[in-house]
Amino acid sequence: MTNGFVVRSLEEVRFWSRIMKEHSLFLKLGFRSEDTQLIQEANGFYAIFENIENKSHAYTFDVDPAVIKRFNEEVHQAVSHIWVFKRKVLGLILTCKLPGANNFPLLVDHVSREANYFRNRLAELNTGRLEPLPDAIIDENVFFLRIMADHAKFISHLLDPSERKLIEQANNFSQEFDQLLFQARDLESMRPQSQTLPLLDQFLDQNRVSVKSLRDFKKTARELIEACRIKSIIHPLLADHVFREAEHFLFIIDMFEHSLTGKPVPKMHPMD
Ligand SMILES: [Fe+2]
Ligand SMILES: [Fe+2]
Repeated sequence: MTNGFVVRSLEEVRFWSRIMKEHSLFLKLGFRSEDTQLIQEANGFYAIFENIENKSHAYTFDVDPAVIKRFNEEVHQAVSHIWVFKRKVLGLILTCKLPGANNFPLLVDHVSREANYFRNRLAELNTGRLEPLPDAIIDENVFFLRIMADHAKFISHLLDPSERKLIEQANNFSQEFDQLLFQARDLESMRPQSQTLPLLDQFLDQNRVSVKSLRDFKKTARELIEACRIKSIIHPLLADHVFREAEHFLFIIDMFEHSLTGKPVPKMHPMD
């Protein structure tokens, strides 16, 4: 017999622990060679999250929920620590203590927001306190639309300046998602009156269309980078990382759609 809490916990930890592990690598690659202390700390976090990821895959869905509750607490601790590390790095960059390092401040802030999101998810799972559906729909979309808008900006800024066409496309996505984010914030400030079924359903439909096309753009970028067909300083793993985060957002949108309207959730994320 499978338990909903166990399934949701393991799925969440499997997805986000890999993300946290990769953040450690990206941060490390952006430090200067003399920042040995920071590089060591990043390596430490890589090992911690790799271990958590392995453990999360070793558990099966029929494990005792009490075991997963303790596991979630352990992961929560580790995520709190990497959040502190990311905010420390942000502080060092913004006070010009790391001149010449290669992590954008917005990227460091971005990865710390993702850590904070993961930490909140773990706390929600363990306490069993979930937001009412209409609030969750608005809050999750506000969070992920900003994440998507940031991704478009990172891609634009990490492409070689000579890749004019691709930069233009990335900038268009950046604008599109900034606009969607503002719309989401408008819906947020109009609540609870804005939380009608037709408005929330339309909100999800509109966001899904844009996330799908951004997801496809990221997929193309990833393939071009892997085949060495474009000039950039984007790590192939970063291209894959932002692609997976878009897929995750699409999955969340479909889950909400299902809860809202009863429409079936596709099992995998079909490429359409
Ligand atoms: Fe990320
Ligand atoms: Fe991200």
